[in-house]
Amino acid sequence: MTALLEVSGLRVAYGKIEAVKGIDLVVEEGEVVSLIGVNGAGKTTTLRTISGLLTPVAGEVRFKGQRINGVPAHMIVERGLAHSPEGRHIFPVMTIEENLLLGAFIRRDGPAIQKDIARAYELFPVLGERRKQRAGTLSGGEQQMLAMGRALMCQPTLLMLDEPSMGLSPIMMQKIMTTVKELQERGTTILLVEQNAQAALRLAQRGYVMETGKIVLHDTGAALLANDDVRKAYLGED
Ligand SMILES: Nc1ncnc2c1ncn2[C@@H]1O[C@H](COP(=O)(O)OP(=O)(O)O)[C@@H](O)[C@H]1O
Ligand SMILES: [Mg+2]
Repeated sequence: MTALLEVSGLRVAYGKIEAVKGIDLVVEEGEVVSLIGVNGAGKTTTLRTISGLLTPVAGEVRFKGQRINGVPAHMIVERGLAHSPEGRHIFPVMTIEENLLLGAFIRRDGPAIQKDIARAYELFPVLGERRKQRAGTLSGGEQQMLAMGRALMCQPTLLMLDEPSMGLSPIMMQKIMTTVKELQERGTTILLVEQNAQAALRLAQRGYVMETGKIVLHDTGAALLANDDVRKAYLGED
């Protein structure tokens, strides 16, 4: 069986600076896979390359068995790969509902879009209650929910989340993590990038640890949580 997402020998550079130095990574259908690592490790660069926003120097990205590097970003979305970016990038002067509709820009099936909006409100009731308000009035955690809701509007097979818990209170972070689990139960495969290693590894079937552009460890989430090096470097233990 081919994996849903297969990244092999991926190298990405900004000018002369190589940010991703030849990584291999696999996500099987139905999994939550976490990619952890300190600031600057190359996680965002990896996600942006997978979703077609950056062009790799070398290597390959395969999605559903087909090579997607070189395919325009909007067509990658169309194939079922969505990306909720680091920093959320919602549109603050547009309403919550307008932000969600933007996530459905590739679709023309009006009634189904309405159904997906309803599902986003079911997943995140606060968005429904405030649907006519400007997105800029939402708290950080609510904006993260909106970014996730928007990414889900294209009915993705694979959802990539870049630091969804960044800057959130522990309670809000817990809510986001619970939602990730819920999405998995509903059939969405998830590649989760997090600096909060503990939460991300608890949730994941498998995880990858990235350091200065390389994958230095990969194992099950449970094994990584129990790994001494991971505990020292990422879970603040000594
Ligand atoms: N637009 C950019 N131009 C130049 N260098 C960049 C750019 N974005 C990121 N980098 C560099 O690439 C490396 C990896 O960054 P990034 O992928 O954002 O890491 P992470 O998401 O793990 O924090 C870092 O050294 C960072 O400074
Ligand atoms: Mg990042």
